[in-house]
Amino acid sequence: MTVKPIALVTGASSGIGRVTANKLIAAGYRVYGTSRRGSQAGDPGFPLLTLDVTEDDSVTAVVRELLQREGRIDLLVNNAGYGIAPAAAEESSIDQAKHIFDTNFLGMVRMVVAVLPQMRRQGKGRIINIGSVIGIVPLPYVALYAASKHAVEGYSESLDHELRTYGIRVSVIEPAYTRTDFENNSQLPDLPREEFAPIRSRLTDIVSQAMAKADEPEIVAEVIVQAAQSTRPRLRYTAGKLATRLALLRRFAPASVLDKAVRNSLQLDTIKPKGHKADGQ
Ligand SMILES: NC(=O)c1ccc[n+]([C@@H]2O[C@H](COP(=O)([O-])OP(=O)(O)OC[C@H]3O[C@@H](n4cnc5c(N)ncnc54)[C@H](OP(=O)(O)O)[C@@H]3O)[C@@H](O)[C@H]2O)c1
Repeated sequence: MTVKPIALVTGASSGIGRVTANKLIAAGYRVYGTSRRGSQAGDPGFPLLTLDVTEDDSVTAVVRELLQREGRIDLLVNNAGYGIAPAAAEESSIDQAKHIFDTNFLGMVRMVVAVLPQMRRQGKGRIINIGSVIGIVPLPYVALYAASKHAVEGYSESLDHELRTYGIRVSVIEPAYTRTDFENNSQLPDLPREEFAPIRSRLTDIVSQAMAKADEPEIVAEVIVQAAQSTRPRLRYTAGKLATRLALLRRFAPASVLDKAVRNSLQLDTIKPKGHKADGQ
């Protein structure tokens, strides 16, 4: 009898996490997903353990429970995360900044630190962190989300060097717009300012239109499974055509070309906050 590898996917109650968990099952893994609501989040076809990645005790408890049930962990997919709806940098409080880092970055760090002792004992393991193409090509008006995903990139690259020595590999997946509940689950800026209302509303429309035409989560999930199963995993995988195009632009085009592409795609030079004089050239 072949023993199935054990996978843990955080944030598997919806979207990319849920589809990834199902694809991993189809690929032969025994999969545990997580949600802050645990099994109350429904029955997606795999066990949903209770986890809030912002809570140290919750992270310790979920890894302990998995190891009690299975005795090992072969794959961790750090997927739990959220965004903040388009807003100017001044429209988020420091508390809001801390919270998005606590989830998107420190949540991943907590999970990594919790599984590493077991993976090192096994001399084997895979960690896949869900970043974003915004973690390599930062966009305006989503600065905090972009910064949290840049942190994921930097941490993942450092970690992969460090852990390779122990037989553990780390990859980061970089999707662009993906059709999930992400937009509905995004937080609103907690310090909205009147003068930014028109630009906020315009950018929210642009993002909604992009989300309506976005890639299905299956595209991202397939890349995750490919990275998990590769015998020579890469550090970075883009997922979907737009993400691949942007990553190529970032890598090969002069900075001025990317600068222009970002400003044009968000029509930044046609909208100015009310009462703002300088045009910042
Ligand atoms: N959709 C996109 O356009 C896009 C693009 C690039 C990258 N991403 C990234 O892909 C990942 C998945 O997002 P998605 O698009 O699938 O969005 P989603 O449908 O909103 O799923 C987010 C998942 O994260 C979980 N989550 C949120 N906060 C959590 C916390 N504090 N502790 C534990 N779990 C938490 C949610 O679970 P519960 O609410 O049940 O706890 C949910 O299952 C995120 O890291 C996101 O940044 C998304």
